[in-house]
Amino acid sequence: MKGDLVVLRLGFVLLSFVLMAGGVLSIRLPDRISEAGKDPTMNQPLKTAVFALGSFWRSEAVFGCLNGVVRTTVGYAGGAKTNPEFRSLGDHAECVQIEYDPKLVHFRQLLDIFWSSHDSRQVFGQGPDVGNQYRSIIFTNGTEEARLAAVSKEREQTKSRSSIVTTQIQQLGTFYPAEPEHQKFELKRNPFLLQLIGNLPEEELARSSLAAKLNGYAAELCPPNIQRQIDVKIDDILKKGWPILREV
Ligand SMILES: *[C@@H]1O[C@H](CO)[C@@H](O)[C@H](O)[C@H]1NC(C)=O
Repeated sequence: MKGDLVVLRLGFVLLSFVLMAGGVLSIRLPDRISEAGKDPTMNQPLKTAVFALGSFWRSEAVFGCLNGVVRTTVGYAGGAKTNPEFRSLGDHAECVQIEYDPKLVHFRQLLDIFWSSHDSRQVFGQGPDVGNQYRSIIFTNGTEEARLAAVSKEREQTKSRSSIVTTQIQQLGTFYPAEPEHQKFELKRNPFLLQLIGNLPEEELARSSLAAKLNGYAAELCPPNIQRQIDVKIDDILKKGWPILREV
């Protein structure tokens, strides 16, 4: 068989592209068929965090690439309107919901990323995105998270007294997931990457850790070392003519 001839065989589907806990990308060959397609996060006790920091397209990309983040979803929270929609979100803010493995990433680290990924002193928006829906909010669940959020906000404020940190700290109420077209928005703008993971249907895209990571990669918002690792892996896969990337 010619090396550059792409042969699609069922066996390829069993090849799995996984982002390992340490952030190392690797290809894994399951030794039993029954292992293919198994969700490694199924028995993992995950925690959930929600942040508002401007456009939720960007917010999802910022958090999706972090080690320990299993799933991301964009949506609306922080307001009173029931069943908000993109065109009528009422008093809600655009948010990202992050499902993470607390053994791999701590709420404190998520807070650090939150602060370093937007301008918390900007009033009524972020950059070109102007409006109440782009306000800065840390949602907390329980007294410990509320305490950590308050401490981190104080620390942020002491960095400079030239302006006020506008970030609100709110108890997490209902999170309303946004419409499908807003989920993994950065990834969806990249047909090449979408094709590389097999043009997953919407429901799978929504739940996929790989899609969350590649969404950050597509926006070039992964930490530089992870951005490079994914670059290398994709180059490698292109050279080998491997048709589909799948996670288990
Ligand atoms: C808040 O935390 C508790 C305990 O970890 C969890 O059971 C609950 O689902 C969380 N609530 C929300 C809204 O995430």
